[in-house]
Amino acid sequence: MSKWINEQDISKYIEISNTEVSDALSFSVRQVQRNLSDFTEQFPGPASFSGFYKPGENKNWTTGFWTGEIWLSYEAATGAEKETLLKAGLTEVDSFHKRISEKYDVDNHDMGFLFSPSCVAAYKLTGSEKAKEAAILAAEQLIKRFHPVGEFLQAWGSMDDPGNYRFIIDCLLNLPLLYWASEVTGDPKYRDIAEKHIHTTMKYILREDDSTWHTVFLDSETGEFSHGSTCQGYKDGSAWARGQSWGIYGTAVAYKYTKREEYIDYFKRIATYFLNHLPKDLIPFWDLSFGDGDEATEPRDSSSAAIAACGMLEMSKYMNEQDAGYYTNVAKKLIKSLYDNYRVTDPSKSNGQILHGTYSKKTPFNTCTEEGVDECIIWGDYYYMEALTRLSNKDWNIYW
Ligand code: GLY
Repeated sequence: MSKWINEQDISKYIEISNTEVSDALSFSVRQVQRNLSDFTEQFPGPASFSGFYKPGENKNWTTGFWTGEIWLSYEAATGAEKETLLKAGLTEVDSFHKRISEKYDVDNHDMGFLFSPSCVAAYKLTGSEKAKEAAILAAEQLIKRFHPVGEFLQAWGSMDDPGNYRFIIDCLLNLPLLYWASEVTGDPKYRDIAEKHIHTTMKYILREDDSTWHTVFLDSETGEFSHGSTCQGYKDGSAWARGQSWGIYGTAVAYKYTKREEYIDYFKRIATYFLNHLPKDLIPFWDLSFGDGDEATEPRDSSSAAIAACGMLEMSKYMNEQDAGYYTNVAKKLIKSLYDNYRVTDPSKSNGQILHGTYSKKTPFNTCTEEGVDECIIWGDYYYMEALTRLSNKDWNIYW
């Protein structure tokens, strides 16, 4: 028996209904409101502990997702609730402004993950000049990580560290911040760097079987491909589930901004590999080499399904009717499984939105430290809410 379903099998699954979308979004918004007393001055960490996020400071690459949940809730709410959410969102914008002004824990490429769902969203929704200023400072910080030799934004580590001359697939989601910065400032430098990084990523990230590298090292003298490796996947040649999902959403935003036709093809290839490596309930194990039968030892990564669904809904906007219908349909089926089998339904059991995410699982073959295994994951919660928002309003003005 195969560990995975086949992409064609997905036609037999049912989609989430409009009533379920509205029910799920209402619950999520209430869950955000309940959390505001713990998480307005402070932020949830990347992952829950036995289902509960703990409050902490605005550090790490993940705090923007919580603020993003507040903005998504603000968009969905009405009356007095909207006011409360607005106040909380703007309080967090102050925190992000301070963080980028004081350059606190911003020496990495994650500026888009941090500042798009927090400050770009705030600017788009409220016109906050402080949010705009913070997000432009973040874009300025991000472009400092550009290497002209190889034309990419270095993910981690100091810029003169030869052991870190690499980019990672996740970074595609940091680039909308740069396009936004060029749009609001009129300065093309941010967009030019984003385009170069996209081009380099697309050149090297896909493997022959349409799985993707998590991280790609370049030769610092020639800028050519040196080798691929994983940090958070099971091992170098395996397909880290969330990496494949960042690839799905990443190629969708790459297409949105560049309109390069070949990126539609890349999107389909990455998505097909993902869809051919799902277990029966459509929610991937944390690495796509695992599947049905591996439950006893390997956890799911529900966040990967939420990210992939958002990427499919985004790409559907730019595709012909048939492809758009297909990917919208698949996205609705992934979200239906999250709704039926993974969402939090009882706030006394968890303060998150979806269960069974995996941040980093240590293996003898990868380089990460273990964190957030089989827990709520803050970006899983955010992208689940983003998918519900997209499904309840097809004209939703994206934060990315
Ligand atoms: N961007 C890091 C991760 O997905 O864990």
